[in-house]
Amino acid sequence: MDIDTLLGALGVALPAQGAHMLEVTSPIDGAPLAKVAMQTEADTREAVAAAQRAFEQWRMVPAPKRGELVRLFGQVLRANKEALGRLITLETGKILQEGLGEVQEMIDICDFAVGLSRQLYGLTIASERPGHRMMETWHPLGVCGVISAFNFPAAVWAWNAALAVVCGDSVVWKPSEKTPLTALACAALFERACVAFGAAPPGLLRVLIGGRDIAARLVEDGRVPLISATGSTRMGREVAPRVAARFGRALLELGGNNAAIVAPSADLALALRAILFAAVGTAGQRCTTLRRLFVQREVYGELVPRLIEAYGRVRVGDPLAPDTLVGPLIDEPACRSMQSALASAREQGGTVHGGERIAVPGREGGWYVRPALVEMPAHGGIVCDETFAPILYVMRYDTLAEAIAQQNAVPQGLSSSIFTLDMREAETFLSAAGSDCGIANVNIGPSGAEIGGAFGGEKETGGGRESGSDAWKNYMRPATNTVNFSTDLPLAQGVRWDL
Ligand code: SIN
Repeated sequence: MDIDTLLGALGVALPAQGAHMLEVTSPIDGAPLAKVAMQTEADTREAVAAAQRAFEQWRMVPAPKRGELVRLFGQVLRANKEALGRLITLETGKILQEGLGEVQEMIDICDFAVGLSRQLYGLTIASERPGHRMMETWHPLGVCGVISAFNFPAAVWAWNAALAVVCGDSVVWKPSEKTPLTALACAALFERACVAFGAAPPGLLRVLIGGRDIAARLVEDGRVPLISATGSTRMGREVAPRVAARFGRALLELGGNNAAIVAPSADLALALRAILFAAVGTAGQRCTTLRRLFVQREVYGELVPRLIEAYGRVRVGDPLAPDTLVGPLIDEPACRSMQSALASAREQGGTVHGGERIAVPGREGGWYVRPALVEMPAHGGIVCDETFAPILYVMRYDTLAEAIAQQNAVPQGLSSSIFTLDMREAETFLSAAGSDCGIANVNIGPSGAEIGGAFGGEKETGGGRESGSDAWKNYMRPATNTVNFSTDLPLAQGVRWDL
């Protein structure tokens, strides 16, 4: 299916002309996909105003009815999974299986949000005053600004939007400039759900295609109480102070430098498969990609040669071909930053296996690389930086305490895992003295997310939690209510204040 037919099937109509047009190219071969009109700062102000008007209506719709809109959106996604998954692959270069997986993740969060629409619970609290009752009520928050990254161009938006919509909020979305078509397709599919729903206010979802100037206006807009931003730590350093300066809420999901520990008791065959997917899947361009591997000295000689051999067998190529496991990097700068990190690793004593750019016949304009495994003499230097590419640094360790300390000795704190069949080791890793990350796994790799669990991490990862668990509370404001059903007026703390 060519791109015009695909966009047509998804309901995306692109204006032929605009004052500023963004040329979208595919990382598969560098070929142009489409031209998209870019929005201005005035458009941003107008979009927020429209979203605010929508919010004022939407917040009064009962939450289970709001859930009905999200249920319909999930149905539209099911019907268009193949087309949207393919578009994600064309725009990001991730393999089709993963493009489809991303749409499935959107469907899953819709299902989660529909259930949640009947569970926006608050507490009741025992009052110290006779004849009084206290409770906590959760109200819709307002316009939610969502800034998303190229690597999960649809699912991460859906984590935010599905929850925000059932919570009674409206959404203004600024997607990555590298993936505007996926965003426009998501908006068109959401619009189909709104038509089927019949009574969704216009402006409930607005998409802003543009660059950092547009993102900056959204971030600074006092009418947007929540900014949920996914991207680099550098981006988070710009967003967080601006949101804080106006006392807004920032939900940040930033860099990760995720690690796994392989203990002597590990099931090495299982660990090998898990490590491989976590380190090379999505061409190393997941926030949760495995980037550092600590292998206990006793099993290093058995595991690492097998891993190097498996790296040599990974099929890199056209992400639309059914047997490909790793597609291209997003662009040339990504390839350059990978090569520069590998050069630093060599200077720091590392032995690099793989990592070179490779030519894929017929796809010469794409930036394809062989995933790199780098044996490092010690933890430190380049290993502590996140390079958004398939580089796995491998190091030996002696004691579990040492491995956990090194795992935690980076600025980022997103995801982590341990491979062990020793219950004491597993529980130590999960304990308060173990992994300091927002995600800590046992006998699976650190990459990927299931929408039921909260997603996010600590330190330079930004501290935000999206998706499952009680992440919905980010999109609502709690009010504490005290109700006096007595004829008296006692003050709290027994304070006497009589005229
Ligand atoms: C990520 O790692 O970037 C997102 C993980 C997921 O959605 O599966």
